[in-house]
Amino acid sequence: MKDLAKTVLEIRDLDISFHSASETVHAIRGVDLILRKGETVALVGESGSGKSVTMKAAMGILPSNGVINSGSIVYYGDDPEGSVIDLINSDKEWLRRNIRGKKIAMVFQDPMTSLNPTMTIGQQLILAISSHEKLSKKEAVERSVNLLREVGITEPERRMKQYPHEFSGGMRQRIVIAIALSSNPEILICDEPTTALDVTIQERILDLIVSLQQKRGLSVIYITHDLGVVAKVADYVNVMYAGKIIETGTIYDVFFDPMHPYTWGLLSAIPDDESGGELYSIPGTPPYLSKDPVGDAFAPRNPYALEIDFKEEPPLFKITDTHYAATWLLDERAPKVERPADLTRRIEKMKKEAADYAKG
Ligand SMILES: Nc1ncnc2c1ncn2[C@@H]1O[C@H](COP(=O)(O)OP(=O)(O)O)[C@@H](O)[C@H]1O
Ligand SMILES: [Mg+2]
Repeated sequence: MKDLAKTVLEIRDLDISFHSASETVHAIRGVDLILRKGETVALVGESGSGKSVTMKAAMGILPSNGVINSGSIVYYGDDPEGSVIDLINSDKEWLRRNIRGKKIAMVFQDPMTSLNPTMTIGQQLILAISSHEKLSKKEAVERSVNLLREVGITEPERRMKQYPHEFSGGMRQRIVIAIALSSNPEILICDEPTTALDVTIQERILDLIVSLQQKRGLSVIYITHDLGVVAKVADYVNVMYAGKIIETGTIYDVFFDPMHPYTWGLLSAIPDDESGGELYSIPGTPPYLSKDPVGDAFAPRNPYALEIDFKEEPPLFKITDTHYAATWLLDERAPKVERPADLTRRIEKMKKEAADYAKG
């Protein structure tokens, strides 16, 4: 873990609501997130927990009924002056021309929504490159071919002339990644980039993201509902529930010493060949945030909930310098609660695998 690297993106106390004629949904309720140079931070949680909305706010692409009530999102530039750029309040047009899609690029779940079906891959890459930089046609073509090769597309010269529908889902996602990289971004936000793909293709895209991250020194925010993929890519993990980060730590903190019962549930839901083939899923559903939850938002689904969980919201308790969790179980007055036995077995197994891997 490369600690103390320079911070490149910092979200503080972000609060977002969505308004409709009939109600207001308080979707993001005080999110903090730090991304440092060359590191990968995962944002994990069930569907609807607020992962995409948080990062869309950073990209300035919130739906029009979304309102940022408070908080800050700051990008720390890689220029020698060390510029500090307010991503919420700076001029939108200036951000669009200089930062978004340039210094900070985003890749989404469905590559078809990011690609134009009526243009060849080559035309789309050249268009993207020319929007960032003035280059001759020849230089832009050369750059496109190199980007396609970098993301693992063979025979790039020939494939430049093809249309999106002539590629498989995995190949399309590679092309979208190539387009995102066309501006040489410093930060890459990946929003469930492998969710629509089958498992083997998913592995390859994850490998690609990891290798690009290392080769280019990218800082990556990786959004997923699947904690299982996180171990492969992330240095830090933020677990999100009902618009809040409820546990945060290094990959080791969260996988080897999870503290929040929600994180226990997510870890237990990772497919594992010793669970007797039965896939665990957390009972119940997340709350709908048209009203702020009373107490811990997870309490109604939490078999370990204490009385106080239904009354008062838990603070983020500090476990170590890197590890924090918002559960009353960490209060000194709380009864001692053991993690579920099956999870303890999984953790021991993961620790052993990690030790074996380290030994080579
Ligand atoms: N356009 C919208 N209008 C109203 N509410 C929205 C909209 N987009 C998102 N939300 C609310 O924000 C919550 C979080 O959404 P999102 O960030 O997309 O979840 P996820 O964690 O699956 O990425 C949703 O559960 C929903 O309540
Ligand atoms: Mg999402």
